[in-house]
Parts: sequence; C-alpha cells; structure tokens
Amino acid sequence: MSEIYQQFAEVYRRGSYPEFSKWVFNLLPSLLEKYALPRSGKLLDLACGEGTFLEGMLLNGWQVTGLDQSSNMLRFAEARLKNTGKSFRLIQDDMRNLSFENEFDLVTCWFDSLNYLLELADLENTFRRVFRALKPNGGFLFDMNTLYGLFVRWQQHPVYISQETDDLLEIHIPSCDYEKSEASLRIILFVRDDQKNQWNRWEEIHTQRAYPMDLIQSALEKAGFQVLARLGNLTEQSPALPSSGRVWFIAQKPA
Ligand SMILES: C[S@@+](CC[C@H](N)C(=O)[O-])C[C@H]1O[C@@H](n2cnc3c(N)ncnc32)[C@H](O)[C@@H]1O
Repeated sequence: MSEIYQQFAEVYRRGSYPEFSKWVFNLLPSLLEKYALPRSGKLLDLACGEGTFLEGMLLNGWQVTGLDQSSNMLRFAEARLKNTGKSFRLIQDDMRNLSFENEFDLVTCWFDSLNYLLELADLENTFRRVFRALKPNGGFLFDMNTLYGLFVRWQQHPVYISQETDDLLEIHIPSCDYEKSEASLRIILFVRDDQKNQWNRWEEIHTQRAYPMDLIQSALEKAGFQVLARLGNLTEQSPALPSSGRVWFIAQKPA
C-alpha cells in the first residue's frame, strides 16, 4: 500500500479527481449548519491528497492541517497552499498513527480514503485516534465506498479508460475478492514526457475494503462518537440505502 499515489499523484492532480473535494467543500457549510457543528477553527483533513479541499478551507478562514502518507500528493498540496500566502501545516504520515489530543474542531477524510484501511482493527483504531484529536463538540465527517459501491459500481466494466488526453492515458482494470470484502483497481498510466520525446508507463494497484454501514457506525460509537447522520446522497442530504455506492457519515464528539 505504501507505494500508491506516487506516479498516480500527478495524474490525479491533472485529472478531474480534485473536482470531488471541490464539490464537498461547496456543500460543507450547509451540513455544518444543519448538524450544529463548528463553522470555524482548526481543521484536520486526513488523507488530504493534493490539497484542493484544504485550500478552500484555508481561504475561508480555517486553520488547516493536512495529513497524507504520499510524499508526491503532499508536494502538490504544499505548492497549492503556499499560493494562498496563508500559514498551514502538512504532515506526511499514515493516518493510523494519528497522535493529536483535544486539538481540532473538525476532522474530515474525503474520497473513500478510509477504504484503504483493510483491517477492521485499523479502522477502529483510526476512529479512536480521531476522537482523541477532536475537541468536545468537534465534528468528524467522511465518506466511504459501500459494499454495493465496490462490488457493483466498481465492477461495471472489466476494463475502461478513465482519462485520455494528448499526453496521458489512464486505464482501470477492476477486480474483487468477496471473501475479503476487498476490491482492487489496477491503474495503468501512460504519461508523455515531451522533453525526452517518449511515453512512460507506470502501474499502481489500489485495494480498498468495504465495511457494512452498521459496522462502521458501531465502530464510531465504540470510539465514543455520536452519529448524527448517515447519508447516501450528499446533495440531497438523503439517508444511505443498501444500494448507495457511497456513504457519508457525520459524527460528533459529545461535549
Ligand atoms: C482518493 S485520494 C483522496 C485525496 C483527497 N482526500 C481528495 O479528496 O482529493 C486517497 C488519499 O488517501 C491517502 N491515503 C491512503 N491510505 C492512507 C493512510 N493509511 N494514511 C494516510 N493517507 C492515506 C492517499 O495517499 C491519497 O492521497
């Protein structure tokens, strides 16, 4: 797992992927208001990637910390955040090692990053650490791919082109292992290097695990969280259904 989001980082940043966290950023204020969660203060964005969400939050007055295990994703995040002229903190680490105490008003983790935790014990441990990192009344918001998402949505095509431009070709080959509740994407990248007048080929395998929504909720509650909502559609703020491809959790550390 440690080698993912290395060559892919550049392709991620150049492609449409950052649109996801831009969209979440735009919807966030209404969620914070509806669930009476902090609307200013200190934010920790786990698995912050190339920093699009952090950039929006920083420009909106939040004090931001981003954490990600990928040095290449963080390099892009740093360049993006420096452009704002404001101060920020970026940490290269595995989210399973989180060790803050009572520091943040909000912790977020977007775009199914928690699905990369392949052991239930790791998910539970991360939830406990997020709980510790939050101040009382602090909010924890994240999304995860559901079982339906990984085993139906991801598997719709045996192979497909995810991005194609004059200088980039990104091919996805999905597969799944029902016994382990895991699905993998073999991502094959062809990236043009104009200076050397050649194409480079890279490959990454991204494996995610889906957890039943009730199990995620009970892990949150075991960590001490109160679950305020479990949404299937963020725009409509409607409840998650068994056929939702993605689930959005909104949780709070009690006072
Ligand atoms: C799909 S990207 C999402 C990035 C960002 N949250 C966004 O919305 O664009 C998944 C991110 O999770 C990070 N990641 C995966 N497992 C991680 C772990 N155990 N600890 C820290 N970061 C992790 C990857 O490096 C990658 O940047």
